[in-house]
Amino acid sequence: MREMVARCRQLVETIYNQYDASHDLDHIDRVMKNAEKILLTEPAADELVVQLAVLLHDIEDAKYEAMHEATTNQMLDKIGASADLSAKVISAIESVSFNGGHAKEITSIEGAIVRDADRLDAIGAIGIARAFAFGGARGRKLYDLEEEARRTMSASEYRNKETASVTHFYEKLLLLKELMVTTEGIRLAKERHHFMESFLEQLKIEIE
Ligand code: ADP
Ligand code: NI
Repeated sequence: MREMVARCRQLVETIYNQYDASHDLDHIDRVMKNAEKILLTEPAADELVVQLAVLLHDIEDAKYEAMHEATTNQMLDKIGASADLSAKVISAIESVSFNGGHAKEITSIEGAIVRDADRLDAIGAIGIARAFAFGGARGRKLYDLEEEARRTMSASEYRNKETASVTHFYEKLLLLKELMVTTEGIRLAKERHHFMESFLEQLKIEIE
């Protein structure tokens, strides 16, 4: 790992360690692995931009506002990133968030890679684990048979409603497969998507 990347990982560790298990440093490390896999098939992408964007992509996450320690810009300053590198990293991070279906448009291959890598970690077996970890940390219900999944919602409606964890599968997780951008991301998402569908079928058998 390049020195700047290692230093950055060291600096963000204390921030992510305050987040619940759905967004801890292990999430960042898994997203890094996904990103590196995708990078192998995207030779035009700048690896350093991708790596730094992965490390920093959740430090200003609005869901963990009380735990923010530094802005992305401050972190990039601390590790000595040039203005040009910082601008590229920030632009890649800007399009990562799902935001209830209101994600910003992808403007670079690096942004596409980081977003696909983050979304891969939101689906499949790990996606299931993370959804219940997040729901558990927020005191949400596992499922709510009466609750209807919303098909359209504003970004703030998406954030503010305390939905049951299984509802979140229908409002976000099952939609991600179609929103992947890179060829490798699309390929990896398919398998994970099927696994979530089997999980939901089995769950239905057990609870209904
Ligand atoms: P983003 O921050 O990228 O816009 P989310 O707000 O959906 O995306 O949060 C990222 C992850 O946090 C999700 O993939 C999921 O694991 C978890 N999460 C967020 N909202 C919920 C929810 N209502 N129920 C269960 N898990 C959630
Ligand atoms: Ni993330």
